[in-house]
Amino acid sequence: MVLKKFTWKSVILGCLKSESSCPVPKQACSQRLSLSDLSNPDSPISFSDLSNSVFNLHVFTLKELQTATNIFSKSNYLGAGGFGAVYKGFIDDKLRPGLKAQPVAVKVLDLDGSQGHREWLAEILFLGQLKHRHLVSLVGYCCEDENRLLVYEYIERGNLENKLFNRYSAALPWLTRLKIAVGTAKGLAFLHEEEKPVIYRDFKASNVLLDSDYNAKLSDFGLAMDGPEGDDSHITTPVMGTEGYAAPEYIMTGHLTTMSDVFSFGVVLLELITGRRSVDRSRPNREQNLVKWARPQLKDPRKLDQIMDPRLEGQYSTEGARKAAALAYRCLSHHPKSRPTMSTVVKTLETVLSLTDIPVGPFVYIVPTEGKIPSDQEKNGKESSKCDGKQVGIKEKGRDHHRKGHWHGRRIESLMYRAVYSDTALYKTIGTGLYSPRN
Ligand SMILES: Nc1ncnc2c1ncn2[C@@H]1O[C@H](COP(=O)(O)OP(=O)(O)OP(=O)(O)O)[C@@H](O)[C@H]1O
Ligand SMILES: [Mg+2]
Repeated sequence: MVLKKFTWKSVILGCLKSESSCPVPKQACSQRLSLSDLSNPDSPISFSDLSNSVFNLHVFTLKELQTATNIFSKSNYLGAGGFGAVYKGFIDDKLRPGLKAQPVAVKVLDLDGSQGHREWLAEILFLGQLKHRHLVSLVGYCCEDENRLLVYEYIERGNLENKLFNRYSAALPWLTRLKIAVGTAKGLAFLHEEEKPVIYRDFKASNVLLDSDYNAKLSDFGLAMDGPEGDDSHITTPVMGTEGYAAPEYIMTGHLTTMSDVFSFGVVLLELITGRRSVDRSRPNREQNLVKWARPQLKDPRKLDQIMDPRLEGQYSTEGARKAAALAYRCLSHHPKSRPTMSTVVKTLETVLSLTDIPVGPFVYIVPTEGKIPSDQEKNGKESSKCDGKQVGIKEKGRDHHRKGHWHGRRIESLMYRAVYSDTALYKTIGTGLYSPRN
């Protein structure tokens, strides 16, 4: 394919001029700028260009973002990942004339971390140019002295990891899980089918955000990469990602393709089916790695009952579960070429979503034991977030890796506490008045 020749400088500077319109020809604007275009020493665009608005994003001052988040107050704190802490905020035209009133999530780069500038830039480059209903939308950024911040639309229900594994809130129903799977599959298919395909590289439950209607949005483009071009079958890169989600051939060889994302998708689909985390060190040895434990059972419909999430209480379409399990099996194939493309995944899951022969069960209410009321943090599942996979790629994410080690230690403590708590929790079945101990 012959690409139209133009300089990035002309495109970017054209796009820089105005926040509301892109004055350069549409065709030129549709050519996506890559990270490699910036890292090239001869690049026509320099880092200083980012102090102006690029890709119609707002450039915020640090002071504006302090005002929006109540000076990054504890009460606005949403959580933290490898990049740094995230705070809820609110922007409107009082902050700056012309700003649309909306809640936002502000991600603040941890200046002591090893993750940082590259990831910050990658988020701006990818999310500034790629717009889709299943990708989180980037509102703007801040680049002031050393400070690097990112401002996203606020997604009401937070991440899938907390929603799926939080034992103190109702289990996600089967059809909601499928809706989430379809949404994320559409997001990945969109990335893979771009003119210049994008490999997301960090697909996992904590990077899937859910809006009030459980529409899924992919977040965190810090590790995303442009896929192979021309005749190349893969790109070779240092291994980054999260243990339990990264594709085996990528971990072994560093060869990255869109099929690596398909494998990670298979892991999340398996988490949705089983209600188990991709890595769970609190389980018996042979069950700690979800893929190793569950994959052999996916192809045998008679064994499926043994791995379905017990919290679903049988309320799912049997045929739908079989189809979803068969799909997960293919996504998790050891041979990348045997995995389906994400658009095939979308089509298959849409058929599964249409299977609504779901048995209706009793409404179940969990009664906490007196004197053992879970803290808000436990209810939100915050203490359990990010604990379950050590990040791989220690070299580039050294500090992050250590931090995850630290979280892992905390997780063991909190799981022990939860085990004590859940032993004493009771299930009350409304209607029959029947109580039975849980676990
Ligand atoms: N746009 C958003 N709207 C609402 N909550 C968000 C948004 N972006 C992030 N969060 C929340 O902020 C917290 C931290 O997110 P972050 O992406 O930094 O970490 P993570 O995904 O847990 O870890 P990792 O660094 O491995 O991706 C999570 O609980 C996430 O749900
Ligand atoms: Mg994340």
